[in-house]
Amino acid sequence: MKIALVTGAGRGVGREIARQLADLGMAVFAGVRDEGHAPEGTTPLLLDVTDGAAVANAAKTVDAAHGRLDVLVNNAAICGDHGVSPADVTADHMRATYEVGVFGLVAVTHAMIPLLRASDDARVVNLTTRLGSVALTSARDGINADWRMLAYNSAKSAVNALTVLYANELREAGIVVNAVDPGHCATDMTGHTGDRSAAEGAAVAVRMATAQAGGPTGTFTCEDGPLPW
Ligand SMILES: NC(=O)c1ccc[n+]([C@@H]2O[C@H](COP(=O)([O-])OP(=O)(O)OC[C@H]3O[C@@H](n4cnc5c(N)ncnc54)[C@H](OP(=O)(O)O)[C@@H]3O)[C@@H](O)[C@H]2O)c1
Repeated sequence: MKIALVTGAGRGVGREIARQLADLGMAVFAGVRDEGHAPEGTTPLLLDVTDGAAVANAAKTVDAAHGRLDVLVNNAAICGDHGVSPADVTADHMRATYEVGVFGLVAVTHAMIPLLRASDDARVVNLTTRLGSVALTSARDGINADWRMLAYNSAKSAVNALTVLYANELREAGIVVNAVDPGHCATDMTGHTGDRSAAEGAAVAVRMATAQAGGPTGTFTCEDGPLPW
């Protein structure tokens, strides 16, 4: 049985990812900040990704239960600057966003790498967005033109870079690391404005989390295929 951990699994896309992985027969740790929010069929794991002690404890718990981790889904993130002009975003604002989506992702990944190395077919899936694509953002009239979140978008650009760096580092250990964009989903983050359901968004991540052994690594994809970095 595959062992999986999903961060931010108490609501939105992360909750659906945890549920779908459990439905596929995986033993899923649902990283949550409120145990009552873990989806049925998963094991709640208290995990605030900004809390070093909680991250260390999560690794200890997974280690004690299984001695390895096959699937890590880094999903937890916040977006606090929707509708805020880039000129009005402060460094504190940036820190808050990066604390969860970037430093939290590194804290969790760093803590789980020994457990991923203990798997014979490990995958890491990082939730990101096309808004983090520097290539798309640099096209002046492109699809990112009206989405100018300085903190959120650049945090996801960092996630994209981290994906490639981890993929390159962990390739030889047989650990694949990929970034996925779930599309514009109707969740709390988007004020439920997205045109896709959380379940549809989750399916993109689940596909990557269950790709054939020896599958691609260091990629950035959405439902429709590859996205430019
Ligand atoms: N929705 C979209 O259209 C969309 C598009 C592209 C990419 N994404 C990405 O997909 C992922 C999921 O987004 P979503 O729409 O499902 O967001 P969401 O509904 O706002 O849910 C965010 C999740 O992150 C968790 N979280 C926040 N701070 C945390 C912390 N310090 N430690 C641990 N967990 C924390 C939340 O947990 P609590 O319940 O405890 O607050 C919640 O489970 C994110 O990485 C997002 O950037 C979303």
